[in-house]
Amino acid sequence: MNPQYTPEYFEQLKDSVVWFEDGSLNMAYNVIDHNIEIGNGNKTALIYESEDGKTTEITFFSMVRKSNRIANYLESLGIKRGDRISIFLPRIPELFYIFLGIIKTGAIASIYFSAFESAALKDRLQNSGTKVMFTNKNLLARIERIKDDLAELKNVICVDDEEFVDNYKAQPDNFEIAHTQAEDYAFMLYTSGTTGKPKGIVHSHYAIIQQIASAKLSLDLRPNDVYWCTADPGWISGIVYSILSNWALGITTVVYGGRFDSEKWYSVLEKHKVTVWYTTPTAIRMLMAKGEELVKRHDLSSIRFMASVGEPLNPEAIIWGNKTFGKFFHDTWWQTETGSIMIANTPKLGIHPGSMGKPLPWVEAKIMDDNMEEVVVNEEGNLCLKPYWPSIMRTIWNDEKKYESYFKDGWYISGDKAKKDEKGYFWFIGRADDVIKTSGERIGPFEVESVLIEHPEVVEAGVIGKPDAVRGEIVKAFVVLKNESLASEQLKLELQEFVRHHLAGHAYPREIEFIDRLPKTRSGKIMRRILRAKEFGDPIGDISTLEDY
Ligand code: WTA
Repeated sequence: MNPQYTPEYFEQLKDSVVWFEDGSLNMAYNVIDHNIEIGNGNKTALIYESEDGKTTEITFFSMVRKSNRIANYLESLGIKRGDRISIFLPRIPELFYIFLGIIKTGAIASIYFSAFESAALKDRLQNSGTKVMFTNKNLLARIERIKDDLAELKNVICVDDEEFVDNYKAQPDNFEIAHTQAEDYAFMLYTSGTTGKPKGIVHSHYAIIQQIASAKLSLDLRPNDVYWCTADPGWISGIVYSILSNWALGITTVVYGGRFDSEKWYSVLEKHKVTVWYTTPTAIRMLMAKGEELVKRHDLSSIRFMASVGEPLNPEAIIWGNKTFGKFFHDTWWQTETGSIMIANTPKLGIHPGSMGKPLPWVEAKIMDDNMEEVVVNEEGNLCLKPYWPSIMRTIWNDEKKYESYFKDGWYISGDKAKKDEKGYFWFIGRADDVIKTSGERIGPFEVESVLIEHPEVVEAGVIGKPDAVRGEIVKAFVVLKNESLASEQLKLELQEFVRHHLAGHAYPREIEFIDRLPKTRSGKIMRRILRAKEFGDPIGDISTLEDY
């Protein structure tokens, strides 16, 4: 693809990044090395706190050297531009500089969420044709199990393996960064749709222009900030707003390596004097549930700006945020595919509780019906964006057809339903497809169904997102058993464990219901819409394509 960038806007932003003299552009250079030139070398880039409370600080100088060593190490393995190099690690400092080191070589970096189990990894690694994989001893077994199915995988490296550590340390700490073209691919991330396997969303080096601009505008980042984005880099927010844009702006960034825990989170905010905090509605609701007493035990007066992403931010959470922190959570909307925030309650715009805000200045957004006609104000429709912008996905790995299916009549179709009010604010309504958002994490029903039917007692399964007061949605599975008389609470637990063990710790169905058959179209497709209607007691709607039920 050779996109035509419509907005002249980006012409103006061209100089906000550093181009090499020959007109080439490398994302990682802009994210990390550039900081040395502007005098940030000795500034802390990363404040890392592990689950047991141990803090490590890494300066921009040190980040440059560490990522250079990784880049040299990769070259010693013979990797070439365009090779896919993957990271399968929990939130530890290595993840961050390995990611940048990969991009420095011109290879394509990709991160896999550390909750993934073998089945989820297999599909993604096979599709990407990953050549080198960074993991640790703890997670290694999940890759070992599927290694024979990964023909292109040449090296699996444990970052806590002594041999690797010695080798890495022996690498030179300077590196000639690849002079990649702006349109070359920098990183990819798998995400889920309704059907089929996960899709490898590919982003180019040029995306950094818009990632920087959006972070400045929507997150109000300033040079002296201490910034904490709670997202894991296995998801797009954790890459774009916890590695790329924040460091490109020279911002000291906090990463907490542990799991969610209210007490711990407040301590992290207090201890590191966080000024800008970017998190998810589920986390906010979980904090809310723990009550005010806990908050009062901490001095959180350093917080200047708070924002949220990934799922609808309910007005109650905004009101609670203001009562508790004296600040509002600013909602932002975007997707793995868009590569940066598109719609937001920017600090300038202020807060419109319940609304996602307005499109950023370089975004043209419209609500359209299925015939691509714009709908009237306050009417529900498909949220569409005008392509192309620098951070839009460049392709879907090995699936150009899927990529093309996002576009129609010169518009990008987001897959979300929304409406626009008379003042131009956008309001999220829901997904137009069957994608599930639980705790802000994106899950495809098909993947969960595919694992469930691998269980010897299961004939078929239909999976939906069921609204949940805290998590936004939970994964609910309707399961048809081979032998109905085996239905029991015990079997439900067993199926949950089965999905956890084979697919991912975060994607298991928190609720299971046994039913005798699934609603399907005559061509055999599961009609999840009908499962949802049944669940919520809604009208079932058009069932003309339904097979006898
Ligand atoms: C949903 C996350 C409501 C939406 C950055 C979108 C939201 C999907 C919001 C993308 C929001 C994201 N309000 N829903 N502010 N932000 N979403 O790819 O359905 O993990 O299509 O990217 O999350 O999820 P993804």
